[in-house]
Amino acid sequence: MSKTIIISNRLPVQLQISNGDITAIPSVGGLATGMKSVHSGGDSLWIGWSGLTDEEIPDVLAPKIDKALAEHGSSKVRLTKEEVNGFYFGFSNRTIWPLFHYFLEYSEFELSYWETYKTVNQKFADAILEKAGEDDTIWVHDYQLMLVPQMVREKRPNISIGFFLHIPFPSYEIFRTLPWRREILQGLLGSDLIGFHTYDYERHFLSSVRRLLGLEVSFNDIYLDDRVIKVDSFPMGIDYKKFHEAAHEHAQRNESQKSELQKRLDTHKKSAPDAKFFLSIDRLDYSKGIANRLKAFEYFLNKYPEYKEKVRLIILAVPSRSNVPQYKLLKKEIDELVGRINGELSTVSWTPIWYFYRSMPFENLIDLYTSCDIAWLTPIRDGMNLVAKEYIATRTDKTGVLILSEMAGSANEMNESLLINPNNFEQIADTLYQAINMPKKEQQERNGILQKRLERYNVEKWANDFMTSLVNQKEKEDVYVSR
Ligand code: ADP
Ligand code: F6P
Repeated sequence: MSKTIIISNRLPVQLQISNGDITAIPSVGGLATGMKSVHSGGDSLWIGWSGLTDEEIPDVLAPKIDKALAEHGSSKVRLTKEEVNGFYFGFSNRTIWPLFHYFLEYSEFELSYWETYKTVNQKFADAILEKAGEDDTIWVHDYQLMLVPQMVREKRPNISIGFFLHIPFPSYEIFRTLPWRREILQGLLGSDLIGFHTYDYERHFLSSVRRLLGLEVSFNDIYLDDRVIKVDSFPMGIDYKKFHEAAHEHAQRNESQKSELQKRLDTHKKSAPDAKFFLSIDRLDYSKGIANRLKAFEYFLNKYPEYKEKVRLIILAVPSRSNVPQYKLLKKEIDELVGRINGELSTVSWTPIWYFYRSMPFENLIDLYTSCDIAWLTPIRDGMNLVAKEYIATRTDKTGVLILSEMAGSANEMNESLLINPNNFEQIADTLYQAINMPKKEQQERNGILQKRLERYNVEKWANDFMTSLVNQKEKEDVYVSR
């Protein structure tokens, strides 16, 4: 029976060694949380990196790795410490990530990173070739693996390959600065279908293909001598039902069933019923605009001082890529900003910012989503931003306000939220004021529309649309080849 092989750098879980044994912790990030729902259907195999380098795994634990991953329908690609440094911390996160998020000044064009990226992409391709039958469908994910489609195509000319990019594809003027721009495009063109979150990213990609490779592009099809490749946008959805039902179940809990976090949130709400909680949840990443958000919060409190002691900002930042210097610097900047703002503004009964730097279990995410009046997400640039969608899905009584950066891919589908430019503090302060004072009826009207849309175009529909489009494209290609 044919199967789908999902391939991405991150697996649904990351392995860690604690107390001399292997433990699996859920991976954080849009790709992992979204694809997990698709993969749980049971008829796919997920290939990726376990999160441990070869050097970290003692011989005695090696057999346990495969077992731990098999429990999650996954299989590993082995990477050495040097490979992880050059491929993951290097080319993926010091070259491509900043470039594709328009942080050109952070991008490092280092030949050794590129060489390791090629070697590791070949390892991933080899892992697919080892597991894939001729009738299987290969679904490659994200910027860490952009050479894989062509590497697989060379060995299996007829196999079905889809590729989805979870981050923005930048405009031609940015992309052209990459020394290996043609190789990256050629790598991607090994696919039959290339998917992006938004129409803009799709357009940018097609423009680069036209201008850098001089290929014939008709609407969203790219013509090669013997193949036609389709490029399209598929905005990724969430597992709406999972979030919505978790929030319903959460609302029914009695005191003894509540988490410590929830009890603390309830206590604060009871002591100041008119106070408003603002929430932001992100990986600690410069693209997420966390520092801007803190400065804008201070700006808001200075512009509208009547809200001092009446609002609180809860920031949940999950540690991410902490070996990369820009992330270390950002962590320091955020620690300092939180310390300074809290130091200057706190009173005996009020701490303006609650800052958590950690990953949290799903249950606590639901505590936060359901308890906070306003979700406030200000990425400077974001491929999609699923947190915005998750917040709306948990608002079972339809109250709550979402303030969202227009630079997030999800803003295209969430027009009923309050959209802001993350660099415009004046606009942000006024929007926070608007959100605090928004009548309940208006909140419910806006969220009602958003919820219907998110429920309809959920992650399952997203994956089905992508797969259906891949099948159709393969048929179209067969006709083209036999013409
Ligand atoms: P990205 O993929 O860039 O990290 P997204 O907003 O698209 O951003 O996805 C983030 C995912 O990670 C969401 O599904 C969110 O629930 C999850 N997540 C983010 N922060 C945390 C955290 N501190 N603890 C647990 N899960 C988190
Ligand atoms: O969704 C974008 C993304 O970069 C994914 O590719 C990645 O899995 C996630 O964010 C988290 O990043 P990382 O895998 O580097 O922890």
